[in-house]
Amino acid sequence: MKEFKNQIESCKSLKELEDLRVSLFGKKGFFAGEFAKMKKLPPEEKKSFAQKLNEDKEFFLNTLNEKKLHLEAEAIAYEMKKDGVDVTLFNQASEAGALHPVMDTMDKIIEYFVAMNFSIEEGPLVEDDFHNFEALNLPKYHPARDMQDTFYFEDGMLLRTHTSPVQIRTMLKDKPPIRMICPGAVFRRDYDLTHTPMFHQVEGLVVDKSGVVSFANLKYILEDFLKYMFGDVEVRFRPSFFPFTEPSAEVDISCIFCEGRGCRVCSHTGWLEVLGSGYVDENVFKAVGYEGVSGYAFGLGVERFAMLLHKIPDLRSLFEGDLRLLEQFR
Ligand code: DAH
Repeated sequence: MKEFKNQIESCKSLKELEDLRVSLFGKKGFFAGEFAKMKKLPPEEKKSFAQKLNEDKEFFLNTLNEKKLHLEAEAIAYEMKKDGVDVTLFNQASEAGALHPVMDTMDKIIEYFVAMNFSIEEGPLVEDDFHNFEALNLPKYHPARDMQDTFYFEDGMLLRTHTSPVQIRTMLKDKPPIRMICPGAVFRRDYDLTHTPMFHQVEGLVVDKSGVVSFANLKYILEDFLKYMFGDVEVRFRPSFFPFTEPSAEVDISCIFCEGRGCRVCSHTGWLEVLGSGYVDENVFKAVGYEGVSGYAFGLGVERFAMLLHKIPDLRSLFEGDLRLLEQFR
């Protein structure tokens, strides 16, 4: 009997245990044989013999079941370990990511203006006609609206075509003095080497009591900013037109590819256009109910800055998500 207990305990697998079970409790097993012996016993011994045998049988059945549970748990643990994934294991196949060159350029731009004490403002991507056009002195049927190639929704709302509406939102929400930039996505129906339907701009606006903010201030900060971004470049202001500024200027830097000698990128002019700017038009102040103030504004395309900084020939490649391109900016 003692021997059975050892046999059960030393079973290494469920299969071995099952064989042992059959040899003990099966039709031709040990206990069947013992009960058969009972027939030959004198009647007075039968009862105690049967009682003892039943007790033994129950004891070994219990021992066997316990061992079975134990072996089953072991088998499950083994399977789990075999198929399991060790999430703490270092994966050599993964590689470090990096900031997208457009976001990296955006960060650098923001860094400059935050250091110059500009606040950062935000506005909705889905705009209404008032904020995107009307209040910026682009009344209905103004020819400059064509330049913007707008995505319209059926209800007359639109995807903002520039970050300039955030000038309006900020002036309506705050009182002067204002000193803000607005970085963000803008949308136009445009698609070629240098245009994508979605791109990013950074808008700037500075407003204070009349006479406090001058065009010279605008000139100084933009020149300083462009040198921060592009290094030792020449900066020039060229008279231009925007409906929301008067006077307006486009800002050029000397070509960073040919250093002003003339090349394909600068169309052999020696200059690269990088910014729009100007003194805020009186009509814009009227639209937000401001009086006795003056200020300057500017706007730039972040992708254009990124293309120039990283010498990227096709803007569209920035939005294809091709890792071979992005890996170069790690
Ligand atoms: N909103 C203009 C554009 O999308 C850029 C711009 C030009 C913004 C002059 C300004 C500005 O604030 O003064 O082309």
